[in-house]
Amino acid sequence: MKLLALLTLALPLLAQQHGTDPVQLDTGARIYSANCSVCHGPDGDQVSGVELKRGKFRRASTDDELAKIIQTGIPGTAMPPNAIGSGNLVALVAYLHAMRDFKTKKVALGNAAGGKVVFEGKGGCTACHRVNGKGSHMALDLSDVGAVRTPGYLEDALLEPETVNLPQHRYIHATTLRGEKVSGRRMNEDTLTLQIIDSNERLRSLTKADLRSYEIEKETRMPNYRDKLTATERADVIAWLVSLKGSAK
Ligand code: HEC
Ligand code: HEC
Repeated sequence: MKLLALLTLALPLLAQQHGTDPVQLDTGARIYSANCSVCHGPDGDQVSGVELKRGKFRRASTDDELAKIIQTGIPGTAMPPNAIGSGNLVALVAYLHAMRDFKTKKVALGNAAGGKVVFEGKGGCTACHRVNGKGSHMALDLSDVGAVRTPGYLEDALLEPETVNLPQHRYIHATTLRGEKVSGRRMNEDTLTLQIIDSNERLRSLTKADLRSYEIEKETRMPNYRDKLTATERADVIAWLVSLKGSAK
């Protein structure tokens, strides 16, 4: 029974590692903007004769060839070798294939140190989020958000949070058969059980058969920061979030 619970917790994580999931594409997009857009431009069309967005390459017909060109560069041309690890390379290649579907937009990055002050102070972000062990468990831990999200996504999170509400993290309100009310952030759910972080920040596993009622909050609790922060403060916060790469580096 214990093993089963562990397995069901691990499954969503495993599923995310396959194919072109949004996290992988975000990682690829970040690597692209850090290493490639200086020359190729945000839309991949700034080097004459090369249209990265088209997904067709003169010098590469397979993903392996593409990965090799990215790593070794093209001798005798301005295309440099790029030291990118294999995991990130997979994400980058996935991004190159998906690039034409991505909206590229310019996001203002401000001062990261100032962003940390806003995050912990005026923004009140630590009331819900946690970074490097500081803050609350009530919403996502953001310690590695800069490694998995693009600046564009982070800006959307502040301006249109309803677009980033991850369904698996919705809040639930449950009442047990004995009348106890339990609320918290849903971490995982299967047909029989429900795991939540309750308001005391404890992980609890509830058996659905023991519940009298159970509701999922539809709206995200992530506040909209369009009016709560100035554009400068938002740019600072985004710069700080971008700098958060977690322990994985
Ligand atoms: C310093 C500028 C520069 C950087 C940085 C750069 N490239 Fe290039 N890249 C070029 C140039 C110039 C060419 C065209 C070479 C040629 O064929 O003459 C090129 C060619 C390519 C090609 C071959 C296109 C084809 O049709 O075969 C691919 C793929 C590519 N780059 C991907 C990338 C990726 C991915 C990155 C980031 C990891 C990157 N490049 C970084 C300048 C750059
Ligand atoms: C009242 C609680 C609350 C506050 C305060 C809050 N957030 Fe959130 N935030 C959430 C929730 C809820 C989500 C949706 C994901 C989840 O359920 O954990 C979220 C999502 C995010 C995401 C998307 C993460 C991802 O990878 O999808 C970012 C980025 C974020 N918040 C940044 C911030 C910043 C920066 C601040 C402060 C300026 C802030 N949040 C303040 C509750 C909050």
